[in-house]
Amino acid sequence: MDATSFGKAQLYTLTSDSGVTASFTNFGARWVDFWVPTSTGRRNLIVSYDSDEAYQKEDAYIGAIVGPVAGRLSGASFDLNGRTYQLTANEGNKNLHGGPDSLHNAYWEAEQLDETAIVFAYELSDGYNGYPGPLFIQVLYRLVGNSLCVDITATSPQDTLVNPTSHVYFNLDGDYRQPINQQQIRISADFYAPLRSDNTPTGQLLPVENTPFDFREFRPFSQGFDLVDPQNQIAKGYDHGWHLSQYDPQIEAISSDGSVKLSVTTNQPAVIIYTYGWPISPERDIVSHGAFTLETQTLPDAMCHPHFGDIVLKANDTFHHQTVFTVTTD
Ligand code: BGC
Repeated sequence: MDATSFGKAQLYTLTSDSGVTASFTNFGARWVDFWVPTSTGRRNLIVSYDSDEAYQKEDAYIGAIVGPVAGRLSGASFDLNGRTYQLTANEGNKNLHGGPDSLHNAYWEAEQLDETAIVFAYELSDGYNGYPGPLFIQVLYRLVGNSLCVDITATSPQDTLVNPTSHVYFNLDGDYRQPINQQQIRISADFYAPLRSDNTPTGQLLPVENTPFDFREFRPFSQGFDLVDPQNQIAKGYDHGWHLSQYDPQIEAISSDGSVKLSVTTNQPAVIIYTYGWPISPERDIVSHGAFTLETQTLPDAMCHPHFGDIVLKANDTFHHQTVFTVTTD
């Protein structure tokens, strides 16, 4: 159960009787790898790098817990209890994934409970990037058989905003140098949230019917990669939220060869799926459309669109996010 060194951070590995292993680092409370046995050998289903520096160089959000508010907050400000809070903008005039150097770039406290569970904890100080706080946030990762359970809890002595998520990227073929075009996904969602050209939601919830956003039956990701629909053009694929129906599991995905299936159950009302359409540069390891996220959360920019949901955490209440990723192989 000893941690190994991971650049300036540590790496912790969980193991289960079913032969699945999953590693995590205290840098960004990040999920680093997810090895599963298949008939053709062991396969790592998520995008992985081997040190904190490598993540910072490639893309700081990969695998991390992002927040306190995941996604884009337009205008980098919000009103709460009659006061306007100005946040640090880190993408144009927006606050993305909590702002610069937020949870994803923090070195969290770590405690490995046993070979199947690890807890990371961090305190975001009051006023950090403009958010009221302090916010005490914990992430518990548990490997139970073939399931990786992510529990995020948070509390603050002040009213504040909380909407964190796991920003892990999957490629069920086990190679993020190859696009996910023929991997298939099913999402229990009748409505999706279209985007403006600056990637913030318009606030509408549109029916998926007769659009490339209809994944009520298994469909390949490629159905949005031809960029015929202007919404796919904005995202160079997908970077959209789906409003989830109550159904268990709400999301399923299958590898190109059909041998690996991922099922996702969550207590969150929506999922954002980003298919890594940009920014792509030749120095990057991961190719365009080389992976997909399953960011379970309340839809982004909810403070501007109250019908998306309530992301206000009342003073001394406890926020609880749970998402369970279960893998089955042939
Ligand atoms: C966002 C993308 C962004 C990416 C960064 C996603 O959650 O929706 O627009 O580029 O995070 O890795």
